[in-house]
Amino acid sequence: MPPVDLNVVGGKVYVDGGFVEAGISIDDGRVARVAKEPHLPEASGRLNVDGLLVLPGFVDVHVHLRGMELSYKEDFYTGTCAAAAGGFTTVLDMPNTKPPTNSPERLREKITRARGRVVVRVGFYGALPKPPSRIPEMVEAGAVAFKVYLHHPITELDISRDEVLLDALSWVAEADVPAAIHAEDAGVIEDVKRRLGPSTSPMDFAEAHPIEAEVRALRRVIPIAQKAGAKIHICHVSSTVGVQLIRKARASRGALITCEATPHHLLLTVEDLEKWGSKAMTDPPLRPRAVAQGLLEALKLGWIDVVASDHAPHTAEEKGRRDVWAVPPGIPGLETTAPLMLNLVNKGVLSWRTLIQRLSSGPSRIFGLSGGEIRDGAPADLVVVDAKREHRIDSSKFHSKAHYSPFDGWVVRGKPVATIVGGRVVMRDGEITAPGGAGKIIRLRAKNQK
Ligand code: DOR
Ligand code: ZN
Ligand code: ZN
Repeated sequence: MPPVDLNVVGGKVYVDGGFVEAGISIDDGRVARVAKEPHLPEASGRLNVDGLLVLPGFVDVHVHLRGMELSYKEDFYTGTCAAAAGGFTTVLDMPNTKPPTNSPERLREKITRARGRVVVRVGFYGALPKPPSRIPEMVEAGAVAFKVYLHHPITELDISRDEVLLDALSWVAEADVPAAIHAEDAGVIEDVKRRLGPSTSPMDFAEAHPIEAEVRALRRVIPIAQKAGAKIHICHVSSTVGVQLIRKARASRGALITCEATPHHLLLTVEDLEKWGSKAMTDPPLRPRAVAQGLLEALKLGWIDVVASDHAPHTAEEKGRRDVWAVPPGIPGLETTAPLMLNLVNKGVLSWRTLIQRLSSGPSRIFGLSGGEIRDGAPADLVVVDAKREHRIDSSKFHSKAHYSPFDGWVVRGKPVATIVGGRVVMRDGEITAPGGAGKIIRLRAKNQK
């Protein structure tokens, strides 16, 4: 037998819900065997991970890689380098770009530009095309899901009208892909903004995006999605009331609904917004401490299915604007999410099983992706973690173009130290070890799969 490509040896591997001391043989991009070292086939390469943990690669279903005309904020290479550095083997990219990814033509163009630049697996969201009957064509072009911004539409469809939203979601249901929803009600936001008038205070931004906006949007979209038979995934849920609405819809009415929370909504509060100003300004905004604590409880209980970064990079100039309504909301999160979650495992707040469900198997299952478990035949998408490594979060070292973080200075324990995508080591000890193009574009349903 010719040797396999790579043996990853000396670590503890997460299989079937627990850790075993084993090595992993990788051949042709896939896991060939998980076994004690003497039972592994010969390999041409060897990666020693003594004392480290090997987990299924992390999957981030909410990332803004930007690119195109927004490449000054982030591009496909820097964004996926940030993903690799953060232990993510797969990311899903949002369509609120310039131009927005709201037609098959634009999606194909985005994919053409991204291919050759990415270092991890990347799947693309579409925005709703006009007419929505083009949704199947977008799925064929590579859209793995659709993104719906209820408050700030990036589609030419007038989704403020219930029947238009229902029709669009019916097409999404027919195509059998999920719709990710940014749930905020435009009316609530506009009313508060009008009352507040011109402002230079990020606290006013928070006031203009109250929990009521989230709750109203959820009350509107849940029944419409249910009527359409669409699977919806609520992005960055920021309130415990919101979580309860989602949980009840799922439990009592059998709605096809899941949700995610970001590390910043779980771990930061409105006090951090006061301290950091626009660098901690994100949409939806940070909430009072009791809300964050409630979200963390909901994450533990499984009411929140996914942790996603909502990596949303902007420039220092943009974040420094005086007029708060001209400051774009968003926090870069790809390089802080895994360390922050690993820190919660170290503190006994989360179990390993919960961490892996929220960061790997859960998002893979919901979005129909291949990741989430280490087993024979699965794509070799792995993250090697030094569970005990203490380090200080320092945004000046980010691979992202955005060098700010409201987590700057936090000392956390647990760090991804190697990222393996399709059997190839793309990050080792914080350094990117593969060129742009080493990653792959995910195309779930496309003809002529590449
Ligand atoms: O904070 C946010 N940033 N919320 C959004 O909805 C958009 C995102 C971005 O694209 O920067
Ligand atoms: Zn959003
Ligand atoms: Zn986002």
